[in-house]
Amino acid sequence: MDMNMNIINGRVWINGNLEKTCISINNGKISRLTDQENIQEADETIDAKENIVFPGFVDVHAHLRDSEFSYKEDFSSGTKAAAAGGFTTVLDMPNTNPPITNVEELNSRQKLARNNICCNVGFYCSPINANDINELKIANAIGYKIYLHKPFEGQDLSDKNLIKIMKKIRENNGILAIHAENHELFDGIVHTIESEIQAIKRIIDLAKITECKIHFVHVSTKEGLDIIKKNKIDLDVSCEATPHHTILNTNDIESTRYYCEPPLRDKENQESILNSIIKGEIDMMATDHAPHSVQDKKEGKPGFSGLEITVPVMIDLYKRDKITLERIYEILVWNPIRRFGIKNIGRIKEGYNADLVIIDENKEQVINVNKFFSKGKNSPFNGMKLTGSITKTIVNGKIVFDGKDIIHADMGNILQNQVDFQ
Ligand code: NCD
Ligand code: ZN
Repeated sequence: MDMNMNIINGRVWINGNLEKTCISINNGKISRLTDQENIQEADETIDAKENIVFPGFVDVHAHLRDSEFSYKEDFSSGTKAAAAGGFTTVLDMPNTNPPITNVEELNSRQKLARNNICCNVGFYCSPINANDINELKIANAIGYKIYLHKPFEGQDLSDKNLIKIMKKIRENNGILAIHAENHELFDGIVHTIESEIQAIKRIIDLAKITECKIHFVHVSTKEGLDIIKKNKIDLDVSCEATPHHTILNTNDIESTRYYCEPPLRDKENQESILNSIIKGEIDMMATDHAPHSVQDKKEGKPGFSGLEITVPVMIDLYKRDKITLERIYEILVWNPIRRFGIKNIGRIKEGYNADLVIIDENKEQVINVNKFFSKGKNSPFNGMKLTGSITKTIVNGKIVFDGKDIIHADMGNILQNQVDFQ
């Protein structure tokens, strides 16, 4: 069924500015930007008065779980959390049970997701066999992920095998996301700073040999970040930071209660992450949405639900004049789609997919985990008062989140292989 929609009265993010424009949507695409006199007839009109209309946010690091872990999260609850948090596209991590380590698992995961997702989802795979990578590309792996500290069963992460994997990824014009921690440098159960630094150095050395495109996930240390920054000149490397490593530190937060991997760091490290986000030296912000059950958290499982707090946390920073909207656009929309080669989204422009988020930048909210759509009710941001709320999220031309409820549960598409973008 064809549906027309208009969005009127909003301040719309176009070419790096907020402009008063009306948006017409037809068949899931942005069809026209006009003034109100010339607007099309539409089945539905959204009045975005006093709101910002932004391209939908893109999260390159989410754990949607499902299958054996569906008690923690499933495709439905995870993508609802995404839409409620203003995300229209998320990239799903492969550390599921069973893990996504080959074409068969990737295909069955995509099958499980189909018709169950209310935002668009791309899938990572963590390859066991370098020779699978050509086929994984054809099966729409959006990227590859290696957990240096936690290889999957049968996964050989020796330099020799990593070089093989990296060369294949390079040949296929893919991207390798790295969780950079060296477990040999853990101090008992403590994930030391040194363990991150050494793991980053090791991968940089391998990237020099293979010229593989690398993305370091959730960087948490100043020194680790410095190494990445220095090597950006000669190597194809990018990195992301999470909202928790950006905002919270162990001077304020009890890191055992709020445990994640890598763990929260001290104030000095946290401030260097924040400053680098502000300056644009860190390419992306990613939620590392890692939902767990209450019992699993008690047993020490790492991570928290991030999809429903990340955008409000960033809008709140913007309202406090700490970051520009332009930077928010770069780290949560433009750099993610460019780096992972996702086409047809990320701009409010005729012909682009109508993936949009409407934000009330002045509406205050108190983060309340019990209101999360995510099954994971754990967040160190719980109780925090923030300025900025999501009014609506539109995916492929339909309102998915109306500010309160999810009203369309199956609007998401699975991202097809699009690595030849640019
Ligand atoms: C993640 C999880 O629970 O899957 N936890 C976390 O603390 N970050 C794993 C990961 O992203 O490394
Ligand atoms: Zn993660």
